[in-house]
Amino acid sequence: MSFIKHYKNTKIQFGWISIFLHWILAIAIIGLFALGLYMMELSYYDSFYTLAPQLHEAIGLLVAALMLFRLLWKIINLAPKPAKGNSKLVNTASSAAHHLMYLLIFVVLIAGLLISFAGGQGIKIFDWFVIPGPAEFFYNQATTAGEIHLLVAYALIALVVLHTLAAFKHHIFDKDNTLNNILGIEERK
Ligand code: HEM
Ligand code: HEM
Repeated sequence: MSFIKHYKNTKIQFGWISIFLHWILAIAIIGLFALGLYMMELSYYDSFYTLAPQLHEAIGLLVAALMLFRLLWKIINLAPKPAKGNSKLVNTASSAAHHLMYLLIFVVLIAGLLISFAGGQGIKIFDWFVIPGPAEFFYNQATTAGEIHLLVAYALIALVVLHTLAAFKHHIFDKDNTLNNILGIEERK
């Protein structure tokens, strides 16, 4: 088994920057989902009560910055060709799913920002600094944005589950290069 050496995408394989962004963001997004659900269960007397939302927001902002860079990187890079055995329908569906994941991630991020700003205190990054921002754009902002944040986060994670199943289907049943591609492993024959 050998690994790719290029950092930019080629016509057949993702480069290291796309690969790094894919995995670091996958871990962060799944982590934020779990942390989000967990922190809503905490009561005032839990020791994690103030730290958990601060952590959630700080990681969320890092994800937002990395997603903007990822979008730019995707635009200026080649898109590796899909596996040879794929039908046209599979290619269209997978490309639609990838674009939909980008869209849902940005909606969750924007809704998250709207919840956090709604208090009018800006976003506090631990005791380090505060990111100031406008408080309310619309009536009942925290509640509405909170509902969108939760609902779209669930939709995103459902799509991620499908996406992961599809990746394993390619690897185990079709025995093609799709999963190896995003792991940086050279083409298998
Ligand atoms: C992809 C990134 C993110 C995911 C998957 C995610 C997921 C979640 C989930 C599942 C909850 C629990 C909601 C509930 O039970 O009502 C939550 C809550 C929350 N998230 Fe996020 N989140 C993300 C990014 C962000 C960002 C960037 C911010 C703000 C900077 C943020 C701010 C909040 C806040 C303030 C809550 C508490 C909601 C409330 O009080 O209703 N999130 N998040
Ligand atoms: C939050 C979790 C995840 C998100 C948001 C996500 C999103 C994406 C996106 C948007 C792409 C298209 C390439 C790009 O623009 O970077 C992609 C490619 C890919 N992902 Fe994920 N992914 C996640 C987790 C996973 C997991 C857990 C696996 C497998 C175990 C996986 C396997 C793949 C594979 C094999 C590709 C290449 C697909 C192709 O070449 O057509 N992903 N992913």
